[in-house]
Amino acid sequence: MKSLTVPLKGREYDILIENGLLRSVGDKARQVLKKSERCLIVTDENVAPLYLEKVENSMRAAGFMTASCVLPAGEETKCLNMLGKLYDELTALGVTRTDCILALGGGVIGDLAGFAAATILRGIAFIQVPTTLLAQVDSSVGGKVAIDLPAGKNLAGAFWQPSLVVIDPDCLDTLPDREFSAGMAEVIKYGCIKDKSLFELIAANAGRDKITPIIGDIIYTCCSIKADVVLKDEHDTSERRLLNYGHTIGHAAELHCKYRTYNHGEAVAAGMLMANEIGESLGFTPKGLSGKISAVLKSFSLPTEIIISRQSLISAVSLDKKSEGGDITLILLSEIGTAHTVTVKRDELFNIPLSYVKG
Ligand SMILES: NC(=O)c1ccc[n+]([C@@H]2O[C@H](COP(=O)([O-])OP(=O)(O)OC[C@H]3O[C@@H](n4cnc5c(N)ncnc54)[C@H](O)[C@@H]3O)[C@@H](O)[C@H]2O)c1
Ligand SMILES: [Zn+2]
Repeated sequence: MKSLTVPLKGREYDILIENGLLRSVGDKARQVLKKSERCLIVTDENVAPLYLEKVENSMRAAGFMTASCVLPAGEETKCLNMLGKLYDELTALGVTRTDCILALGGGVIGDLAGFAAATILRGIAFIQVPTTLLAQVDSSVGGKVAIDLPAGKNLAGAFWQPSLVVIDPDCLDTLPDREFSAGMAEVIKYGCIKDKSLFELIAANAGRDKITPIIGDIIYTCCSIKADVVLKDEHDTSERRLLNYGHTIGHAAELHCKYRTYNHGEAVAAGMLMANEIGESLGFTPKGLSGKISAVLKSFSLPTEIIISRQSLISAVSLDKKSEGGDITLILLSEIGTAHTVTVKRDELFNIPLSYVKG
């Protein structure tokens, strides 16, 4: 089994990665939550028929009294209404401050269940069992939990670290191709910003069939990178911003298509290449770098271009949380494996000729 520890002071936790690990989740949880009696397992309607029984049996065998809450699948579930439903379930179960919540699912379930854990009784323990590639390499590590509000995504949230993250790469066998690729966009991002050898490993094993046999190692590398970044900057003020490579522009593209045409990973894929194009125009990013990244993205059927209007791009980018005053902070690459925070004047973006901007 591969494992790594996120050594946050007083709140350190382990990330465990192994094929078939779902069967031992109870034992692993018991090792860290010695006094916990009750556990609410939160999952969604797609994941429940696949993995809920296995996880419930394992938790019960380890002495947890479990209840489960199966929610509709999809981003709409990350809402106040569903949060209220979880509070009702938790109070009906009679949870106390030593009990716990287990999130079994993708980032939607992890973010929602994590926010419930952060807030019920002013915070109880929380175990992440991520089942999408995106959740295994990104959302389950780092302690950001949130729900969406009618005014926007992730607007109510907290920093609440899990007590344990249990990753079973076998869960990915049932993941639809499009979701797998969305996770790969984040994996490729880690290679671009922090680890040239990871990028080269992906390029040499491009496509889902080739990468699947080594996906456990890749998940481990990505979690190590994220854990390292989170450790340096838990509350997202400096180093953690590098993780936003492709995201500022990706968010603009998501907003532009009203979250319909492209999922998050697809928007980030195109966003990374758009950031490169801006970087090249500013003379910051060497020419030719985009071609390498684009070829890898294409091998996972990720989009390499999203056409949007300049006005939509600029207003969405200006609305982004990472923009301050008239300046826009972008993450740009100086080479594969090395990213920088670069401040660009809002007006400058108006003048750069950009191939993906029309109108
Ligand atoms: N907290 C963070 O740091 C962070 C980081 C990145 C993203 N996020 C959040 O994560 C969410 C996106 O997460 P996601 O991409 O995992 O989406 P998701 O949770 O909606 O899962 C995608 C789909 O896959 C299904 N699914 C999950 N596991 C499966 C499996 N093993 N087999 C078959 N189907 C399965 C789900 O039911 C869903 O339909 C967004 O809300 C985003 O804001 C949070
Ligand atoms: Zn992302």
